[in-house]
Amino acid sequence: MIILEPSILAADFSRLGEEIRAVTGAGADAVHLDVMDGYFVPSISFGMPLLTSIRRCTDAFFDVHMMVQEPIRYVEEIRNCGADLICVHAEACRHLDSTLRLIRKTGAMAGVAINPATPVEAVKPVLSLVDQVLVMTVNPGFGGQELIPYTLEKVRQTRQLCRSLGLSSMRIQVDGGVTLANVRQILEAGADVIVTGSSVFRGDAGENTRKFLQIFRESAS
Ligand code: DX5
Ligand code: ZN
Repeated sequence: MIILEPSILAADFSRLGEEIRAVTGAGADAVHLDVMDGYFVPSISFGMPLLTSIRRCTDAFFDVHMMVQEPIRYVEEIRNCGADLICVHAEACRHLDSTLRLIRKTGAMAGVAINPATPVEAVKPVLSLVDQVLVMTVNPGFGGQELIPYTLEKVRQTRQLCRSLGLSSMRIQVDGGVTLANVRQILEAGADVIVTGSSVFRGDAGENTRKFLQIFRESAS
């Protein structure tokens, strides 16, 4: 199954409840939440109080993408805010293994993310500890950037690697610069969890969500 995760980073924060209802009402089952610390990435986005507030307005699956240095410090708190999956960057964890084990211990699903310049091999040792690999298709930190083409080859490599290790149910996520025009290519490369911010929330979020989901149905058939 292909999953759409609208990233609320591109939403209108003054109408966040409405924006989330627009995408879930149109069929999105999950929401992507970008937590940025201003250190691992240049910008600062939002944190626990916002997650707690929006948890009350939807039952959607919450995938929290932590662009935070040493995220192990916040794993339990983020889980308590209602995260269903917590995804951390390999580059941001001194002890990646312990961080992923802690995420699983809280009962959340675990994800590991890699920046464009980080090779896929970096996550090979921890694949048995995660439910999702996030292959960043832009340098993280901002919405509205263009997808970096060489990252699609990394998506292919990740899918191949997981298959070769018998991890066929691994979620392979792509985040950054996804558009209605390039999403087919991304699916062909082997991704099955698609994050999209500006392509959903710029314009009619419900209508854009339906367009993505229609492409997913076409690709699956
Ligand atoms: C970027 C974030 C993304 C961002 C994607 O650092 O991780 O989730 O919201 O936004 P778009 O789809 O606009 O590239
Ligand atoms: Zn993200």
